[in-house]
Amino acid sequence: MAEQARPAAPSGDQQDPPAAGSGRELPPGVHARGVRSFVMRAGRTTSGQQKALENLGPQFILPFQSAPLDWEAAFGRVGAPRIAEIGFGMGETTAHIAALLPQKDFLGMEVHEPGVGALLKRIGEQELPNLRILRHDAVEVMRQMIASDSLDGVHVFFPDPWHKKRHHKRRLIQPEFVSLLASRLKPGGYLHCATDWQPYAEQMLEVLSGEPQLRNTAPDYAPRRDYRPVTKFEKRGLRLGHGVWDLVFTRCASAS
Ligand SMILES: C[S@@+](CC[C@H](N)C(=O)[O-])C[C@H]1O[C@@H](n2cnc3c(N)ncnc32)[C@H](O)[C@@H]1O
Repeated sequence: MAEQARPAAPSGDQQDPPAAGSGRELPPGVHARGVRSFVMRAGRTTSGQQKALENLGPQFILPFQSAPLDWEAAFGRVGAPRIAEIGFGMGETTAHIAALLPQKDFLGMEVHEPGVGALLKRIGEQELPNLRILRHDAVEVMRQMIASDSLDGVHVFFPDPWHKKRHHKRRLIQPEFVSLLASRLKPGGYLHCATDWQPYAEQMLEVLSGEPQLRNTAPDYAPRRDYRPVTKFEKRGLRLGHGVWDLVFTRCASAS
């Protein structure tokens, strides 16, 4: 099986939260919140991913802490623009962008172990010194480890669409979380979301447009930015006539 998550496939759309002993318990350090945007899948970690977790994890996985991250210490350099990515899946896009933009520092957040292992494997293969991983709920990371006015960009690519109405509350792009994300951006920093599920694209447009700290860079949906590669699933979807919607908003200079 190819080592890649299908962007359109939710990580647990058909599932309710895991029962103890189901093999889908939370990883160490991930605490149950009322409503989470993910469900732990029982996906198998390959031996290559496991090896990467063991060999590269200590260097590239940052521990979760209830205090702001020291980016300069974590990345070993001063002054690089800071980009956070939420839910990198198997990390194909993350590694591509980090390789393309070596002058920027990238912090990827993901809770799925095989995905973390897969991205570590890519870090080893492609030698990506400008990438670090937090294996933790991105909502908690954003709340506790990312200082206000500190990020140059946030990427949220193909977040779980949570198709069923009763699961919509699990979607990441909701007013409260978007307000938190906006507060973490520097004035002029950007929030880039993409989805291939039209109803979620419409929700994103409504929520992002309603956030007073943000301004749309386009009349509605934005052209895909050059740095975001077209994934193979996206290519297949496009061939089948499915759409993809990008949204790029920036934080207002005057925001408080
Ligand atoms: C549909 S996948 C998309 C993956 C990737 N962005 C891509 O385009 O292929 C969504 C991913 O987000 C992760 N995720 C969802 N909520 C998260 C959260 N609160 N913190 C960290 N990761 C999360 C899931 O584990 C899943 O791997």
